Amino acid sequence: MKRLKMIVVNTPEEAGARAADVFEAVIAAKPECVLGLATGTTPLPLYRELIAREKAGTIRFAEVRTVNLDEYKGLQPNHPQSYRRFMQEHLFDHVSIKTENTCVPCGLPENPDAMCAAYEDTIERWGGIDLQLLSIGHDGHVGFNEPEDTFPMYTHEVQLTEMTREANKRFFDSIDEVPTAAFTMGIGTIMKARKIVMIITGADKADITYAAFCGPVTPKVPASILQFHPDVTVICDKAAAAKL
Ligand code: PGA
Repeated sequence: MKRLKMIVVNTPEEAGARAADVFEAVIAAKPECVLGLATGTTPLPLYRELIAREKAGTIRFAEVRTVNLDEYKGLQPNHPQSYRRFMQEHLFDHVSIKTENTCVPCGLPENPDAMCAAYEDTIERWGGIDLQLLSIGHDGHVGFNEPEDTFPMYTHEVQLTEMTREANKRFFDSIDEVPTAAFTMGIGTIMKARKIVMIITGADKADITYAAFCGPVTPKVPASILQFHPDVTVICDKAAAAKL
């Protein structure tokens, strides 16, 4: 944990505000920066804060470019539970970012392998990810990189575990509607980001937070690889940090 910076705050809102400080600094230093973004419940306070800061004039998204971590396989971009739609509703529609500067993997590609390769190419053409936002799944997944025997390098298709489908069923009418597969950046894609901020909130994440940052680096806990990244800030609320 030599290079890893851990910040513990009281509430998810405070975690969002601390993460927004990092975003604000990166955007101020490089207005055309490439931000890696995430979906789920964890980033919502951050996105609310970023919207408020653009309205207040301290952040400007007009030149920012974004790449999202993942997307469900089989969902149209306008499906209520697609991650493209999530990003539009929770961030993009409320800030000055240009739609053509936002990338989310296509959930219905004609050729999945070609789509994944093109996604990697876009990140490279844009000069790499300046700041990657992450949250963590209960099984230690980052993006949709589930526990495996190896760390996947590149954007690829994954089968979702039952634990992940179970955790995400709250957004769907029933578990049967939760897609069984998804496209995700690889662990290699994420590790190439110049800077990483991981937000972890809630008592239900305390065990996996301990495993990821105090346990061995192993693909069985994909987030544990962050111990090897040179610039990671983990922002936890007290509940998630309880076992550290
Ligand atoms: P959550 O999801 O933010 O909704 O808890 C995290 C994840 O599954 O990566």
